[in-house]
Amino acid sequence: MGQIELKGIRKSFGGIDVIKGIDLQIDEGELVIFVGPSGCGKSTLLRLISGLVEASDGQILIDGDDVTGKPPAERELSMVFQSYALYPHKSVRENMGFALTVAGMPKAEITQKVDEAAATLKLEDYLDRKPKALSGGQRQRVAIGRAIVREPRAFLFDEPLSNLDAALRVEMRLEIARLHQKLGATMVYVTHDQVEAMTLADKIVVLQAGQIEQIGTPLDLYRHPGNLFVAQFIGSPKMNVVDCTGTGTQLTFGNGNTSDIARNAEGATKMGIRPEHMALCDAGDASKAILTGQIDVMEHLGSDSFAYVNVPDVGLFTVRIVGHSDAVVGDTVGLHFASGDVHLFDASEKTIPA
Ligand SMILES: Nc1ncnc2c1ncn2[C@@H]1O[C@H](COP(=O)(O)OP(=O)(O)OP(=O)(O)O)[C@@H](O)[C@H]1O
Ligand SMILES: [Mg+2]
Repeated sequence: MGQIELKGIRKSFGGIDVIKGIDLQIDEGELVIFVGPSGCGKSTLLRLISGLVEASDGQILIDGDDVTGKPPAERELSMVFQSYALYPHKSVRENMGFALTVAGMPKAEITQKVDEAAATLKLEDYLDRKPKALSGGQRQRVAIGRAIVREPRAFLFDEPLSNLDAALRVEMRLEIARLHQKLGATMVYVTHDQVEAMTLADKIVVLQAGQIEQIGTPLDLYRHPGNLFVAQFIGSPKMNVVDCTGTGTQLTFGNGNTSDIARNAEGATKMGIRPEHMALCDAGDASKAILTGQIDVMEHLGSDSFAYVNVPDVGLFTVRIVGHSDAVVGDTVGLHFASGDVHLFDASEKTIPA
């Protein structure tokens, strides 16, 4: 139960194409995350699945049934929004059971389902409270509880954590991961936060301007981004990217420095290297220093330090150093990286395979 398939889904609003032909298979029990910049169509795609928005073209199948023309209620999906949309005058118990009450389910059965969901979400002590007497995280749990009691074929989440403060977001992220393990239900989850996507997803769908850029597991996308957009969207801090010219196995940078990366670099116009794959070294150590620059800014986070190194005529690099670094602003430093960690992109911004 809970397999969702999109075939050639398109949506335009007043002649403007917002979703431009999406083919996607979501398997039973999978936690799939849609990520992408603001306005790329994440919420619209989720609403198309839910039935709140009608497709302009294409088909939506749930467990093999064509639900394309069906209203939301007949799709048996539960949606959880960023705004919790709880009834302020109803108690937590009434809020959670409301859809079941409307559906005419016997009272004893509703009580049992609400109790079960409350236990899963650690809401047992709050069932008689009104939403205003709850914290943001507790309200969001009630909204999730309301979705659980309906035993949907799949859960649809639209940025459910973005109203919470940073610490609570991390806590709720863990709870959603646990909930997914416990229920084993299909979940489709929208976020613009790539850390949330990396930590929660079985499968990430990266969207840009109404189209899929790439689909893969978090580590697939991190290790093998298919193009420059995905390379810079996945990973934090984001991948360093500088102009270069690739000939044979050699890269030439804007300052004339060259580096032999021992693999095909022909046609490369940009080189990407992640901050965690770079290291500072002695500028005079010709065996290590591929580029030389000056430290512009140092950030000390305790667990990590970030050095921002400016290489004239090449660009600014972020270098992640595990733990503390004694480097200071103004130091002239060498930059070292392994050729196996280099990502290359051609003029159309597609990845050149290693
Ligand atoms: N009902 C509508 N009428 C007209 N345009 C719409 C409608 N709904 C969405 N759009 C447009 O479709 C595009 C995609 O919107 P959508 O809400 O799906 O983006 P999003 O990826 O969820 O962005 P965000 O991260 O900001 O929530 C936007 O340009 C938006 O203005
Ligand atoms: Mg949105």
